[in-house]
Amino acid sequence: MINCINCKIFAASDEAYRFIFNQWLTIASEAIQKKENFTVALSGGKTPIPLFKMLRSNSGNIFWENTHVFMVDERFVPENHPDSNQQIIRENLIGHNLIPDEHFHAIPIKEDSKSSANAYQSMLVDFFCIKPGKLPVFDLILLGIGEDGHTASLFPGDPKIMHSQGIVHSINLNRLKHARITLTLPVLNQAKNIYFVVLGREKAKIVKTVVEGKNRVLPATSIDPINGKLLFILDREAASLLEIPE
Ligand code: 6PG
Repeated sequence: MINCINCKIFAASDEAYRFIFNQWLTIASEAIQKKENFTVALSGGKTPIPLFKMLRSNSGNIFWENTHVFMVDERFVPENHPDSNQQIIRENLIGHNLIPDEHFHAIPIKEDSKSSANAYQSMLVDFFCIKPGKLPVFDLILLGIGEDGHTASLFPGDPKIMHSQGIVHSINLNRLKHARITLTLPVLNQAKNIYFVVLGREKAKIVKTVVEGKNRVLPATSIDPINGKLLFILDREAASLLEIPE
């Protein structure tokens, strides 16, 4: 039996989003009380979109003036490209005058993906006042999982991902449609709260693999926060292959 102590399984996806929304509020208010700001890094993909809409339509409760939104990863495409993660975040969350423009720290699209990664790394070093050899610590990071076990833009079989010590990576893999820019595994594992948000039956197999933790070389299975809290936020379909004790 798998004892997924850090799994939250919901009958329907809207309950999962409501849980994340409430957790966002809690984590944000605690962070703001402590250090007057709340830093959250958002992944791309389709899963987070209903959450963004929920955050936008309940914006009265969110401490937007103290919130800084960062990106976990980006595709190296123009900002208005349909595959752009920042386009998804702007369209569904930020672009509704919710927060001051300078509080959305999008990954800059420069002349090439390496320059974009370097520019984003400089932004993070400046914002978090990072000393050499240190890493930024986000209050909350939302991650998805691809069916191949990738997370962020860290893909299986990419030698960079397991041994990097940097803050931001550029990723160029032949099998990817676009070059990518991503936070590194060490940065992800520094976060105070990491939520995997994984919904739908098509993810059931990879959820079982990652939760069981047998395949330790997958990027998603390598997410193991140093001091933070990891939660798998699943709907019943994505959790359908887990044997959860009654
Ligand atoms: C990206 C994401 C990626 C995503 C997973 C799940 O840029 O694509 O950061 O890691 O979270 O691929 O994507 P879905 O939510 O669309 O299933």
